[in-house]
Amino acid sequence: MALLPILIAPDPRLKLVCTPVARVDDAVRQLMDDMRETMLAAPGIGLAAPQVGHPIRLIVVEIEREGQKTGPLFMVNPEIVEASDEDVIYDEGCLSVPEHYAEVARPAKVRVRYLDRDGETRELECEGLLSTCVQHEMDHLEGILFIDKISALKRGIILRKLIKARKDREREEAD
Ligand code: NI
Repeated sequence: MALLPILIAPDPRLKLVCTPVARVDDAVRQLMDDMRETMLAAPGIGLAAPQVGHPIRLIVVEIEREGQKTGPLFMVNPEIVEASDEDVIYDEGCLSVPEHYAEVARPAKVRVRYLDRDGETRELECEGLLSTCVQHEMDHLEGILFIDKISALKRGIILRKLIKARKDREREEAD
């Protein structure tokens, strides 16, 4: 297993629409394991393949908080097949938008269809934090970040801070 570098916004690779995975093979399973290790080390509760530079439709979610415990969920080519009319608002963060949080409204419950680690089709009812997290990760597969769902003003402030933090980091590395 290996820790993978996580791309930080703004980065054009985070804006790509990802391609479906044709076959869940050992290379995909290796990426799943590396993504899980990277996510847990960050630490985070979800990670999408484009965040580690692989523009394919794969997400990893693992939650153990707020009374929920999901175990590792590896979802290939996930699709929402049902969503509740009722929304829920969470203060979201993202490993690609470090140290920034904002409230985002999403359907409270979703039913997701996906291929698992063995390439088998599965469906899962998601609610609570799991529902929000799965939808957040699935947005990454469309090149959408949670900051794309907030006001342009707030987004601009966050992006400017991220650019400044990157410049500071590069300056430190150069010293
Ligand atoms: Ni994210």
